[in-house]
Amino acid sequence: MSEAPAGGYGLHQSSFRRRVHLVLDSAIATEIWTLLLHRTYVTLVLTSVAAVVLESMPELAIRYASWFDVVEMLSLGAFTVDYMLRLWSAPEHTPYAEMHPWRARWEWARTGWAIIDLLSILPFVLAFFVPADFKVLVLLRLLRFFKLARYSAGMRSLLAALEAERKALMASMMVLLGLVLVTASAMHLFEHEAQPEKFGSIPDAMWWAIVTLTTVGYGDVVPVTVAGRIVAGFTMIMGLMMLALPIGIVANAFAEEIHRREFVVTWGMLARVPLFSSLDAAEIAEVMRYLRSQTMPAQTLIVRKGEDARCMYFVAAGEVEVEATSGPVRLGEGRFFGEMALLRNQPRNANIRSVTPVKLLLLDGVDLRSIMDRNPEIQRRIEAVMAERV
Ligand code: CMP
Repeated sequence: MSEAPAGGYGLHQSSFRRRVHLVLDSAIATEIWTLLLHRTYVTLVLTSVAAVVLESMPELAIRYASWFDVVEMLSLGAFTVDYMLRLWSAPEHTPYAEMHPWRARWEWARTGWAIIDLLSILPFVLAFFVPADFKVLVLLRLLRFFKLARYSAGMRSLLAALEAERKALMASMMVLLGLVLVTASAMHLFEHEAQPEKFGSIPDAMWWAIVTLTTVGYGDVVPVTVAGRIVAGFTMIMGLMMLALPIGIVANAFAEEIHRREFVVTWGMLARVPLFSSLDAAEIAEVMRYLRSQTMPAQTLIVRKGEDARCMYFVAAGEVEVEATSGPVRLGEGRFFGEMALLRNQPRNANIRSVTPVKLLLLDGVDLRSIMDRNPEIQRRIEAVMAERV
């Protein structure tokens, strides 16, 4: 990891902050001690969650009380430091790079990840104000489990899918809630005389409605009148239909999210990159295996001057603008950028922003090297383009 250069955009004061950010937040650990830290973090999360679960068994809670305390204090301490460091280094996230540091921290603190982090250390804060055996604290401590998602690509895709479809999901929840209200009221109307203890009020009947609409059907409350049974039949059918809706929405969004990550797997896209035109079919297939994909909205900062480089980019669709020293340069479909820092082992030398929504193909530095080693022609072409840019 190299130091950020002095000057330019104020990064020189924060190279330590940048290191902290990279160590904590890189999804893929490339350095040994980043990897070690991630493993320790995962172990700590698992241990603390296991401790919370085991502590709920009275005989274990008494026998190993001091052990449970040690695990809890250790993990609370570690997660609190972790949260503070993440909050402090939040301005280093590329999308927040141009914000005031406190604005960037506020933006970060509002993300799902940050909220989970905060909730999982809340027992620490709350312990000062409420009695220690407050039951909600156990639930908050178990939320730590979700911290693991940070290091799981699959989980990130699933969360992104839920986030993308949150409006549709909310809408289907509203419809479900409406159905609970309507069917519970109808059941109350028809059954309250026959079974006053079970359908005596609408809230009582709502329990039945929820159990029925979700197709769980405990069978603890059942209609006995003919009208009640007709309503029940309607409720069951509506329940099946309405539950299928959110499942379909999530499944579809998840498939799309995965597809988005896999859009690289098309020949057409690589064929439009002139750099790869000298490759034969087998070589193209191989390069395709190395490429990852990313879509970005317009006006997003993609590469930040002074940042350490991990990959280079190919524009598969859309247009980006390089803030080169000689003036702005636009790069469109088929062009590449971010090669200089990789090949010269130096920080990024320009900011690059998307002009339109873009689809990018990402190639990691190590993979670039191995491709160049096997294809001197590619190496020659990249170097030629690079020489022109200097
Ligand atoms: P890198 O230094 O890794 O990150 C910024 C990138 O901007 C750089 O690689 C080049 O790919 C690109 N770049 C820099 N200067 C120019 C230029 N004059 N014309 C086109 N691209 C450039």
